[in-house]
Amino acid sequence: MILPLESFWKEKLDTTYKRTDLLFSLLPRDAMLERPIGLRHPFLFYLGHLPAFAWNQIGRGVLGAGHLDEAFDVLFERGIDPKDEPSARRTTLGQWPSISAVLAYRDEARRAVRTRIPEVLGRADDPLCENARILHLVLEHELMHQETLLYMFAECRPGLIQRPRSIAPPGSGQGRAAERKRISAGDAVIGAAWNEIPFGWDNEFGRATVSVGAFSLDSLPVRNLDWRTFLRANGDPPSLRPRSWIHSGARLFVKTVFGPVPFEVAEGWPVQVSGEQARAYCAHRGGRLPTEAELCRAAYTTPEGAYRPYPWGEAEPAPSHGNFDFARFFPSPTGAHPAGANAWGVEELVGNGWEWTSTPFSPLPGFVPYARTYAGYSADFFDGEHDVVFGASWATDQKLLRPSFRNWYRRTYPYAFTSFRVAWDD
Ligand code: AVJ
Ligand code: FE
Repeated sequence: MILPLESFWKEKLDTTYKRTDLLFSLLPRDAMLERPIGLRHPFLFYLGHLPAFAWNQIGRGVLGAGHLDEAFDVLFERGIDPKDEPSARRTTLGQWPSISAVLAYRDEARRAVRTRIPEVLGRADDPLCENARILHLVLEHELMHQETLLYMFAECRPGLIQRPRSIAPPGSGQGRAAERKRISAGDAVIGAAWNEIPFGWDNEFGRATVSVGAFSLDSLPVRNLDWRTFLRANGDPPSLRPRSWIHSGARLFVKTVFGPVPFEVAEGWPVQVSGEQARAYCAHRGGRLPTEAELCRAAYTTPEGAYRPYPWGEAEPAPSHGNFDFARFFPSPTGAHPAGANAWGVEELVGNGWEWTSTPFSPLPGFVPYARTYAGYSADFFDGEHDVVFGASWATDQKLLRPSFRNWYRRTYPYAFTSFRVAWDD
């Protein structure tokens, strides 16, 4: 007999694999060893990493089932996040295996994981099996890597990644300028209690109630055109040029997954910059980046003191609420999702780009790296060099849209789908 839960997880995994395969199909085979971001491995690593991670966590880690392929299980175990570009020797670990060998390993790992689902669901005494936590973990890991792959695509040379007809071209327009909104003093909740959600990553626990002072917050993120005005006012120093822009003579282009587009197409989109660059812009406006607690307060509370699961309230996320869950493959001009506004009149807090905060990524009180199979997931990044980014981008799966979800990047990292908005002390 096939249990409903078992088929639920099989379908969940299959749907996720399908999107992963679609993304890899956008990459020409002969580009598999390209490394568009020097701080990351070549694409081929990710082709092997997703199945290796799944087997290492579920088969080897939780079930104690041993190796599938020892060399590949180890080679593809973990990605990298170095501060500086490592030497080619260290990142290529000698010769990478062939694409077909990695594809065969992937298929074998997917099959093995599928076969083991009933065993995972049957081990109720293990906290990693209870609520199928380890399956959530593997699934969300793959969803996050889909976003990673996409921002790596945006760094490839123009023309390498072609937009298929099934994916709509980007929307253009100036978007809407931000307006300053006031948020009164009060509490924010960061994270969740262990039993409040069926699955969360270690960094989401425990639940912290933080008291937040009154502040003002821009209703919308900073746009490419706002950034261009800022650059011109500051003499266009190279340190403030977004890595997401391409200066070609007098012409300006903005990078997308499917190659650069003329600035005019992207002028209304949130600008993609590093946290460090975002801070400079905020200072120029006499403001600062918001804290994680401030964005939690703005997104998930109301002036009456209620807590809600989404900025717009209780309704399940839909395309009208924001640009997330791959509804598009590009950012949208700001202000295109008024239905996603929160109770304070602030828009786009979830979707259309992660937003930099000034909060260093750090553990909540009571933090426990509860996943014994992956103790370093968060703890390896509590180093003062990574900041919390809030919300979601167009490439963030709907499964990751929950108030407790916490994401982070190195403050100087310009490559991810990260924008920001300005805050002020009141
Ligand atoms: C949580 C998105 C910062 O991409 O570095 C994937 C997710 N960790 N594999 C990252 C992750 C390990 C992580 N972020
Ligand atoms: Fe990973």
